[in-house]
Amino acid sequence: MTEQDLLSRAEGVLRANDVGEYTKPSGRLYPHQWNWDSAFNALGWAHVDWERATREVEALLAAQWTNGMLPHIRYNPSVTDYAPGPEWWTDVPVTRAGEVTSGISQPPVLSTMVHLVGLIQPDEQRRRHWWDRVYDALAESLLYFERDRTTGNSPLIVLVHPWESGLDNSPRWDAAAAKGFRPTRPYRRVDTTKVAAAERPTSRDYDLYMFLVELIASHRYDMRSYLPVTPFAFYDSMFNAAWYRAVKDLNRIADMINRPVIVSDASLDAFRRAYQATLWDDEAAMFLDFDLTARAKVPVHSWTGIAAVYAGLVDGGQAELIYDGYTKRSRNCRRFPSVLPDQTGFESDRYHRGPVWVNANWMITRGLAELGLQSRARQLGEATIELVRRSGFYEYFDAYTGRGAGADQFSWTAALTIDLIKRPIV
Ligand code: SER
Repeated sequence: MTEQDLLSRAEGVLRANDVGEYTKPSGRLYPHQWNWDSAFNALGWAHVDWERATREVEALLAAQWTNGMLPHIRYNPSVTDYAPGPEWWTDVPVTRAGEVTSGISQPPVLSTMVHLVGLIQPDEQRRRHWWDRVYDALAESLLYFERDRTTGNSPLIVLVHPWESGLDNSPRWDAAAAKGFRPTRPYRRVDTTKVAAAERPTSRDYDLYMFLVELIASHRYDMRSYLPVTPFAFYDSMFNAAWYRAVKDLNRIADMINRPVIVSDASLDAFRRAYQATLWDDEAAMFLDFDLTARAKVPVHSWTGIAAVYAGLVDGGQAELIYDGYTKRSRNCRRFPSVLPDQTGFESDRYHRGPVWVNANWMITRGLAELGLQSRARQLGEATIELVRRSGFYEYFDAYTGRGAGADQFSWTAALTIDLIKRPIV
């Protein structure tokens, strides 16, 4: 298949999943608008239809809560074959009129994507005009985390639900799932009727998810009251890296449209020091998450431990150390597995427990290049495109065989493949 063929197929995936205002992550499995999916999808759209990219972002921002939080799902009220539906996120005091959303957020990559989408627009006037239009909402979405999701003296952001990490059933959450929390009400699942159950989270995982949904709703989404009592509170190394990078990118936008920067350089330095001091692990030679209830690092080595590379939270030397260590420990795998194969809980084809993901590869590829590690970035970028070319636009890929798994015709796989081809590493 030529590069041009791959590009047109990728565009075909975005168009097939386009419902006008937003792009479904995949046709059957994920019919609503998801936060970080839409952010990545906007980047893909920017290369083929720039106006469409801006609409994707603005549709997502329309669901922003009045306290600044950008929910992880903006429900489409006409879709009913998805569970859990909005009936689980009851009584939200801060939604906008007419909007139906979930009650947690997702890795805040949107400002970074908006920065890139803007740069793809050659007409400076249009670019700036759009940045100006979305700037305040983006600023609020990032400042929300500083305001409502920090605790004690640490500037690091607390994650409150596995769904919020974007990596639902990562083995990092196994200890929490093993505690046996269950929701008070029965729940239904439709995901396992659409995708093989062996590639999806287990019912023990879902018990924890639904238990936490009930707990969050019972606190009426007030994280200041929820945080002291929840059994699930983590400094997630990827979520925090995404926030740091988003703030830096929004500061860049601010600079170009003459707006105030949202977080000062001094605060960003303090954040970087806290990230290094709290999450770096010498023995693992990567960053680990921190469990606030156990007051201990989470001893699971996954790709989130390299996410600092994406954010520029490390210099080239530290990036090389982490990335090369990860590559060496996963040399029998496709590049690169979401969890290292020597970890308890690794499964090569189950969702976030080992498969290769295009968004993770994209984030690390871009981060490596920005830190001056061009040849590693090029290799990873090319391996990613090759995997998609051979296996198709799947949600994820078996870490050993590269077989496509999860949903087919997955939007961000297409969107980020387009970006990897259109903006090659030089
Ligand atoms: N990722 C979750 C799902 O699988 C929800 O955000 O449906």
